[in-house]
Amino acid sequence: MNHQLELAYIGLEVTDPGALGALLTDVVGLVPGETATDGSATFRNDGRTRRVFVQEGSRDDCSVLAFEAVDDEAFEKVAASLEAAGFPLTEGDREEAVARGVDRLVHTESPWRLRFELVQGLAVAETPFSSNLVKGGFQTDGVGAGHTAIAVTSFEDSERLLLDGLGMVQSDWIETEIMDGIELEVRFYHCNERHHSIAVAKLPLDLGKSLHHFQVETNDRDDVGFAFDRAWSGGLEFANGLGLHDNEGAFSFYVTSPAGFLVEVGYGTKKVYAPWDGNRRYDSISRWGHQPIPRS
Ligand SMILES: [Fe+2]
Repeated sequence: MNHQLELAYIGLEVTDPGALGALLTDVVGLVPGETATDGSATFRNDGRTRRVFVQEGSRDDCSVLAFEAVDDEAFEKVAASLEAAGFPLTEGDREEAVARGVDRLVHTESPWRLRFELVQGLAVAETPFSSNLVKGGFQTDGVGAGHTAIAVTSFEDSERLLLDGLGMVQSDWIETEIMDGIELEVRFYHCNERHHSIAVAKLPLDLGKSLHHFQVETNDRDDVGFAFDRAWSGGLEFANGLGLHDNEGAFSFYVTSPAGFLVEVGYGTKKVYAPWDGNRRYDSISRWGHQPIPRS
């Protein structure tokens, strides 16, 4: 496994940070971190100081996606290949690095209307991670914060960033008809043992938002069920109820956030290995379940 990168954190810009924060903590079971020096609210799902940060703004979308290089050599190598792939990098200043809780940061404009950051040294929090709601904790060790899924109308620029720039490997892909005549193709990419750290979904039209969902993964299967129960009790809208993904093998559900994008809580995503020989087409998103659940 050519393991050089892990999903470090995602930044979300939303009109109602309080409502999103309540979902992240009271339903998903993330733990609030310290407020960042730029005023962002931070959320933890492991021993690091932040894995999600939330800022107030009109975008209601992902604003920052950051991957962490595993060491100096990986940082330099990935930075060089990003530049070579046509993604010019700007060195973040000290103030930005402190706001993100990292030792070093470079950034570039991604094809997804959000800032892509390559970082190193995401700080370890002063207190160990402990969630009263997710007793078993989240799976992040060596595989990063979770995964994200981005909506696009073409794969070309995304693959220039992910494959050429970041050196990721495609895990597999799904081609399916989601509505009469509307084709969906989703490609999944890995940069460590997690089946995918990012998925890119191609739709025939621009939805005006980039983030379809982000996922966090529990260590204990029951913690997905407990999170589902909390969302149910809270009267939240489920984009997709409990189900099992066909390609990645994860048991999960999707709740609709107040900002419109979805949050997935999952368990049991399969691991990939090198050399990877599982890159094949799947024709369904789910082996079973993931049905929309009407609430009214
Ligand atoms: Fe997902």
